[in-house]
Amino acid sequence: MSLAAELEQFRGEAVTQIEACADRDQLEEARIALLGRNGRLKELSKAFGQASPDEKRELGRKLNEVNTAVKDAFAAKQSALKRSLDASPIDVTEPRDNQRVGSIHPISQVAKAVEDVFSSMGFDIVDGPHIEEDEYNFGRLNIPADHPARDSQDTFWLSTGKLLRTHTSSVQSRTYPDAELPLRKVVVGKVFRYEEVDATHDNTFTQVEGFIVDKGITVANLVGTLRTMISAVLERDDVEVRLRPSFFPFVEPGFEVDVRVLGAEGRLANWVELLGCGMIHPEVLKQGGIDPDEYQGFAFGLGLERLTMIRHGIQDIRLFNGADLRGLHQFSA
Ligand code: FA5
Repeated sequence: MSLAAELEQFRGEAVTQIEACADRDQLEEARIALLGRNGRLKELSKAFGQASPDEKRELGRKLNEVNTAVKDAFAAKQSALKRSLDASPIDVTEPRDNQRVGSIHPISQVAKAVEDVFSSMGFDIVDGPHIEEDEYNFGRLNIPADHPARDSQDTFWLSTGKLLRTHTSSVQSRTYPDAELPLRKVVVGKVFRYEEVDATHDNTFTQVEGFIVDKGITVANLVGTLRTMISAVLERDDVEVRLRPSFFPFVEPGFEVDVRVLGAEGRLANWVELLGCGMIHPEVLKQGGIDPDEYQGFAFGLGLERLTMIRHGIQDIRLFNGADLRGLHQFSA
């Protein structure tokens, strides 16, 4: 077959191939195969070198003509594809199949439930810094330097002398000096301890601190408030609550509160320590500029992970901060 005939055949086949392309990717593949550096047209034009000068003139014209025709077909197909894409725009809001939707962390869900209960009882929700001064975390809570109570709350110290707060009681000592009395406040936040991690202890966990300063406050108010909150958050009637006398330097008297779920099996059927509490120590009120003869108060500090474990029957605290999302995905709200 002569080169002219081959060029003519190439033109027909190339136009058919271009017109058959269904999308931009196929069109680009066809362009490379037909007109690219190593494409069919380049291959055909190699024979051009062997033609006589007269033939070359004729073949050159033919080559240009075929080249232009194929390029025109390519441009026409490109516009046609663009027009059909514009006519059927993609809905970018359409959900993908199997899309993984995130969920609110179980601790955040229970934190919200706790805040809602306390709001309904007239408490303000307040906050405080994670990086705390020694004075607020310990000193003003009746825990001076060298007090043995510091041993049970070792923490991470910064080179500035500040520390990662070990409990949310630091927010009490920050609040008292400027407080308008009477007051009712609740703080939910992270706390940090240099702690051996096991099924019920973590080094980073969440506490809820509640405190009231008013006239005529008694232990009965404290117990009533705690029972109301615990049964509201756990949403069950079979929870038993018990108080044990305990020592915290910033309350007098002080208690630890344990709970157990009567209907539960395993660890949760046993008593779980949930919180520490007591009547605010007169010395702490004095340090905060409040006259303890006129005002009294109660305070409590609760481990939110423990409450969440009881609520959901979770056996191991390491689920909350661990990297295995399979556990957390079970709590999609
Ligand atoms: C305190 O932190 C006191 N500030 C509580 C308090 C506040 C007492 C106000 C009196 C008045 P304690 O170290 O016991 O106390 O911690 C309180 C609660 O936090 C515990 O009952 C437990 O539920 C939780 N908790 C303590 N350590 C851990 C830990 N390593 N991991 C998870 N939860 C913990």
